[in-house]
Parts: sequence; structure tokens; C-alpha cells
Amino acid sequence: MRTDQPKTIYLSEYKVPAHLVDTVDLRFELFEDGARVHSTLSVRRNPESAEVSAPLTLDGDSLKLEHVALNGEELAASDYEETEDQLVIAKVPAQFELTVVTWIEPQNNTRLEGLYKSSGMFCTQCEAESFRCITYFPDRPDVMARYRTRIEADKSSCPVLLSNGNDVEKGDLENGRHFVTWEDPFPKPSYLFALVAGDLVEKKDTFTTCSGRGIDLRIFVEPRNAAKCEHAMDSLKRSMRWDEETYGREYDLDIFMIVAVDDFNMGAMENKGLNIFNSSCVLASQETATDLAFQQIEAIVAHEYFHNWSGNRVTCRDWFQLSLKEGFTVFRDATFSADVGSPTVKRIEDVTLLRTAQFAEDAGPMAHPVRPASYMEITNFYTLTIYEKGAEVVRMIHTLLGPDLFRKGSDLYFERHDGQAVTTDDFVKAMEDASGRNLTQFRLWYEQAGTPMLTVSDDYDAKQGIYRLTIQQSVPDTPGQTGKQPQHIPFALGLLGASGEALPLRLESAQGAANAPEESVLELTEASHTFEFHGLAQKPVPSLLRHFSAPVRVVYPWSREQLVFLMSHDPDGFNRWDAGQRLAVDVIQSLVSSPDVSEIEPRLVEACRALLGDSALDQALVAKMLQLPSEAYLIELADSPDVAAIHRAREQVLSHLATSLRDELVACYHRNAGVGTYEITPESIARRSLRNTALAWLLMINDDAGRELALQQLSDADNMTDRMGALRALVNSDYADERSTALADFYERFQDDPQVVEQWFSVQSSSDRAGQLPQIQALLQHPAFDWKNPNKIRSVVGVFAGQNLSAFHNPDGSGYSFLADQVCRLDDSNPQIAARLVTPLTRWQKFAPAYSSLMRSALERIRDKPGLSADLYEVVHKSLE
Ligand code: PHE
Ligand code: ZN
Repeated sequence: MRTDQPKTIYLSEYKVPAHLVDTVDLRFELFEDGARVHSTLSVRRNPESAEVSAPLTLDGDSLKLEHVALNGEELAASDYEETEDQLVIAKVPAQFELTVVTWIEPQNNTRLEGLYKSSGMFCTQCEAESFRCITYFPDRPDVMARYRTRIEADKSSCPVLLSNGNDVEKGDLENGRHFVTWEDPFPKPSYLFALVAGDLVEKKDTFTTCSGRGIDLRIFVEPRNAAKCEHAMDSLKRSMRWDEETYGREYDLDIFMIVAVDDFNMGAMENKGLNIFNSSCVLASQETATDLAFQQIEAIVAHEYFHNWSGNRVTCRDWFQLSLKEGFTVFRDATFSADVGSPTVKRIEDVTLLRTAQFAEDAGPMAHPVRPASYMEITNFYTLTIYEKGAEVVRMIHTLLGPDLFRKGSDLYFERHDGQAVTTDDFVKAMEDASGRNLTQFRLWYEQAGTPMLTVSDDYDAKQGIYRLTIQQSVPDTPGQTGKQPQHIPFALGLLGASGEALPLRLESAQGAANAPEESVLELTEASHTFEFHGLAQKPVPSLLRHFSAPVRVVYPWSREQLVFLMSHDPDGFNRWDAGQRLAVDVIQSLVSSPDVSEIEPRLVEACRALLGDSALDQALVAKMLQLPSEAYLIELADSPDVAAIHRAREQVLSHLATSLRDELVACYHRNAGVGTYEITPESIARRSLRNTALAWLLMINDDAGRELALQQLSDADNMTDRMGALRALVNSDYADERSTALADFYERFQDDPQVVEQWFSVQSSSDRAGQLPQIQALLQHPAFDWKNPNKIRSVVGVFAGQNLSAFHNPDGSGYSFLADQVCRLDDSNPQIAARLVTPLTRWQKFAPAYSSLMRSALERIRDKPGLSADLYEVVHKSLE
């Protein structure tokens, strides 16, 4: 808590550490009223550091120092200096052993950083800079050490004691206590340290690696969750196999453990050999988790597992390099999900997130490069830009090099840097060295913030049979960055003939269509390029930026006719979907500017009719294509958006579609009715999704048959996807009585399951019918709501501000001041969550004036809160600048 300005850290000021630590010996004494941490470090001067006589400087946060000893000799208070965030020992030899004993209070730790308690169990979260909340340490990722950890605790309340590596010793102690010692043979940065102590049950399995080593797999959960681990375990085994087959990466310890905890700031954490997960990202059963949750769990388990190589074996030199591990690992988990599921649908989902939320971030006050140049509080930089845009950057390297050279590059990267803490530049260099490609200009993707804009124009020369495509690129200014250079952009495209056939792409006037490809990746490197395609007897329809080959905006004057054509003919499934989105966006936008419902584009209705009846097309794609662009996306696309007008227009289009297609929706519903047993395959997921979309549309127009179907589905459901689909449809309808009955019954049935209660909160707080401010206020008073649990806060406050946009942007400003109140309240207990929740307000400059001035005042009120945390300080001040 501070009133002074937090310090800015600059990448340009990076210096190698003055001291290195080879081994860390930890002993934890865990008690009800606190914990004593004994730490013994073997320290030596870093030969690569210029600061030969530098003092030993250790980071610390909220620690009570009990002892310090150097080479076994207790230091006097005059030998060291203890400040609010450091322990400095001025005179130290070139090599020595340092012992530090600290006292901490996990039971009072509400920030959930360092060692804390969650439902009675001790657990840790150290990334990025919270190992310093446990003991004094050079808490930076380029100090890598081997850890040995002894945990002592009460045997009955904490029968299970876990840390990184392999357990090497255990035994009983006096007073009903016991201990276990763990040893991790791999040097690691402090942010990968983990400890868990509690009353947990374990699900066991084994995995045999490609070289024939047997690995013990363990998922630890509270006893009530014992039956919800199977999906995570299967996902883990699939991930392990996939990483061997796709990247040649084998697991390295004898045991791999996952622990589920209810109170967790993020999704999950890749601590070496001991991943800690937010319960909502690991626990699942057919009755309690939706298809989406099953898929997310699989992706997150894979993501954390993949970090064992991309993050742990090769780690980050400093936190500016965060995307080195996160961007690469997201790319890896996205490829995995595509391989085990529906690749087109996975791509659609990723691009939706990117274009809706990352583009907004990149256009807002907190815009930063994939490799930031400065920060105040690193936890504010676990962003969509670092993760999602970072993954797109790796994907582009993959596109430019092709799969084989990319694999050569990743092999070289892992081999060259195993055991090291490195930079994004080292990653790119390995890709260059393995492929022989020059990625100098490509590196701008790491340095320049902002979403590049491609403006495309074309003309057709019938006489010569030449089609010319001109692509201009510009990269917008972002805070602190202007006058940017053109970037190296892989631009995949195809050309379609009048009956939908793929035309050969002949970039030269060379004869012979024999080996002309039907899809090419053009490489854009300049502000403007013109490409000539020869030998075309007709004007083609261009299919641009296929698979979304680069994270850019494309502006091209598509006619609605062309979009309808691409929707049904583009061989690239992603672009088919995208054409549908563009058409729907165009239709909704016209309605925003001239609200005449009678003019709603009939071709959109017909396209949806065709989709509803198309059982030949991949049903997973059909399900996606029937989803209208979200309000958030429409807002992102608009200049000075009027939220209420967008909300109204979108609802009108939805109602118009539902009214016009009422019979087709009913038919689609029945065609996709649940058949046989519940399965999590792309086909059955698609069926449930289509059915739930049909239901939602029918309830949108208060169709009584739809209402019956929803009630029936609710009482018949044998899985959460169907149950939630029906509940959501009712909650978002005007059937007020059915809505309250359904919500009450649902709560009654699932009140003992926190993960389901979170979904129950979200379905209300995201709904403009059930989630207006007074109702949100009531949810905060609900006995199941808990201010100490980030998931509950997110499912009410976060979902309201991020997804219930018409209610949040109530023109009277009540939504904004509500959010400001909650953010201020949270800042005292969990500043990291407070700084994340404030995000919607930081976009104030984008909105129409009536909204933006109210948003700004809400932000100013937060700025003026006494004792603002560094986390909030950075976000609020940067957005008001
Ligand atoms: N490193 C985690 C991941 O992406 C995310 C995380 C960051 C978790 C910081 C906790 C704290 O897998
Ligand atoms: Zn990660």
C-alpha cells in the first residue's frame, strides 16, 4: 500500500545478477497461526557481473525476519540493512552460505501471493515475484538453483506434504507432527517453487515415456472432489504423448503432480513437477461441467504441462521476456487442441478472443509490445498481448518456416538453451539459425505495439487476364510509440471463381497452371505491395488472410454478395465463418445507424436458413457460424460506440432471424436432440451447441414451444451443457416466472459445488434480464458469495462489467460507479484482482462522450483512493494520462 509513485522498471536497464545461488535448502514449520521458514542458500559472486564488490541484495515482502547467519555465524543487526522490500548485506565474501529465518502468516494472506491458505490447505503461488513473500531471496528468474525442501506440519490436518521434485525422506515428529523432504534435481528460478500441505486425496495413474521410463501421475484434490479428476488425468496423458510426438519433448522427473485449490488468482501454475490449478480449471464431471469447461481444462492441463520445457527447462531471463514462455506455450497448447479436436473451431475461438479483447487492449491505454520495454507492476503484464498475440507471433514464424524447419528451430532452441534463462531474441535466433531465414524485420512484432492495419484494394484487367491486389500496411501509434515501421506479415490467400472453384495462383505471367498453388502465403514487408495474378479469365473473389495468418485488421470493400458467396464456398473453413461474421457485423452496423427493422438483409436470413438445414457441412463449424458477433466485438469495431444502440440493433437482428427461421430452429433442435450416451467428441459437442443455439433463439422471441423445450431439457438433462443451455435460454428470456424457478431449482441442486455455483452466478450476471445492477448487488449479498475467492468475484463483478455490456454501460453511470466501488474495496485485500477488474473502465476514451465522461470520473475516484496499491496505480494512472 502506497501513496508515492511506484518505480518503473526498464528493460534497457537489465543487469546480470551480482550473486548467484547454487542450492536452496528450505525447512518449513507450518502451524495454525503462522509458518517459520528456514532457508539456507549457497551463494557466490557472479563471474559475469561487473559489480565485483556489490552487496548481497535479497528481495522480501511482508516478512518478519528472525535470524540471519553467514557461514554459520549469526549476524548482528549492524551487519545488514532491512528495508521494506530488501535485505542488504554490505560485506560478503566471494562464496558463502547464508541462513535466513523468517516468520510469515499464511492464514492472513488475502493477496494469494506467496504462501497462503485455501479451504484449510497451505499452498503457494510464486510467479512472478512472490517467492519473496516466503523468504528473502534474489527473486528474479535468471537466478537458478537446486532446491531441497523439508515440510513439517500437523499430521492430522496436513497428512499430505508436497513440493517440487522427488520425495526423498519422510517421518514422524513429536506432538503429532510429521515431515516430508523433497528434492528437485533441476535448477530452477524461484518463481517455479511450490509447496502444498493439506488433507487431500489423490488420483493415481502412470505414463510410460517414449524412452520407456515410467512416470507416476498424481492429481490431489479435496475428498469431495475425488470423482472429478478423470478428465484432467486423460488430458495430461494426451499432452505428454503429444509433446513427445510433436516436439520430441520427454518428461524428466519420476513424478508429475497436479493440485486443485479453490482460491487462486489465475488459472493454473506450472511449478516444476507440482502444477497448482484453480479448481475451476481442473475439476470436471459430466453433471457439473459444460463442454466448454471440458475443453478448457484439457487446454490448460496441456498448457501447464508443456511449460515443463517451454518455461521451466528453458526459462525467461527477466520478466520482459514473459512471452518467451507464454506466447510459445499458448501456441503449443493451441496446436494440441486443434489436433485433438476441431482445428477450424479452435482457430475461430482463438481469433474471436484475439480480435475482441487483444485488439482492444492493443488500442487502449495499456497497449504494450509482446516484449514490453517497461513496467511498474509485472502482474499487470499477464495480458492478452503477452499470451495471445505472443502465440500469434510464434504461429507466424511457423507459417513462414513451414512445419519441418520450425521443428528444427524448436529442437535447436531447447538443445541450445536447456537449463538457461533466455530472451525472446534467443528464440528467434534459434529459428533463424535452424532455417537459414532472416527474421530481422520480423522481430518488430516483439517491439512494436498496436495492431497493424492492412488496407486491401484490387482491380481486374479483363483484356490481359490479370488480377491486381494492392495491400497497404500501417501500424497505429500507441502510448509512447509513434512513427512505426512496416512489419513482416505472412498473408495467406486464395482466389475463387464464379462457381466457387479455387483458381490457380500464378504470380508471374509464367505459362502452365500445372503447379500453380490454390493457396499462397504472400510476405508483406513494405508499406505497400501490389501483387499480380495472371491467367485469370474472370474477376475472382479474393479469400484474404486465410486461417487468420497474421494478427492484423483487414479492410477491404467486400460487397454483401461476395460475403454470402464466401460463406458458402470458401474452402478455408475459417474464412467461411469470417465472411459470415463480416456480413452480420455489416447488417448490425447498418441497423445502428438507421434503425429500420424492415431493412434487415434478407441474404443473412437465407444464409442462416441454409446453415440450419445443412447437415453435410462440419456441424461444429455450422454451430459457430450461427453465433452472431458479440456486443464486445461490435463495440471494438466501432468508433465512439453507443452501447445501447448496439445492444438494441443486435437484439433486433437476432429476433428477426429467430422469427423468420422459427420452424427451421425447431427442426434443428429436434434433429440434434440428445442421442445415446454423453460423449465429448467434436461431433456431439457440435450437436449440443447447435441445439442450445436454436433454443436460445426461440426463447429470444418468447416462443411458447421453445419455452416448453427449455423446461423439458432442464428436467431431462444428464449433463451440464444441456442443463446450462436451457437455464441460460430461460434466464435471457422474458419468461420471468420460469426464470426464477429455474434459477432457484438449479441453486438448490448444486449449492454444495463451488464450481457450479460460479456458473450460476455468471449466468445471471451476464444477462441483461437477470443481471441489472440491483440484481448484481443482491448476488453480492448471497450467502455463497465470498470476497476472498477470486472465482466468485470474477463470476459476479467481472462477468457483469465484461459481458453484460448494456447493463454495465447504463447511461446513468451506475454500472461504472458500482465497479469503482468494488475495485476500491478489493484493492486492500487482493490488489492483483482489483487491477484486473478495473480493465473495462480503462477503455473510456473509446466510447461516445456521454459514456466516456462518466467512465473517466469513476476512474478518477479510484485514483484518489487513499493507499492505492502499485498494481492499481499503474493501470489507473496510465489510463488517465
Ligand atoms: N504462468 C501461469 C501460466 O500461464 C500463469 C500464472 C501467472 C499463474 C502468474 C499465476 C501467477 O500458465
Ligand atoms: Zn503459461
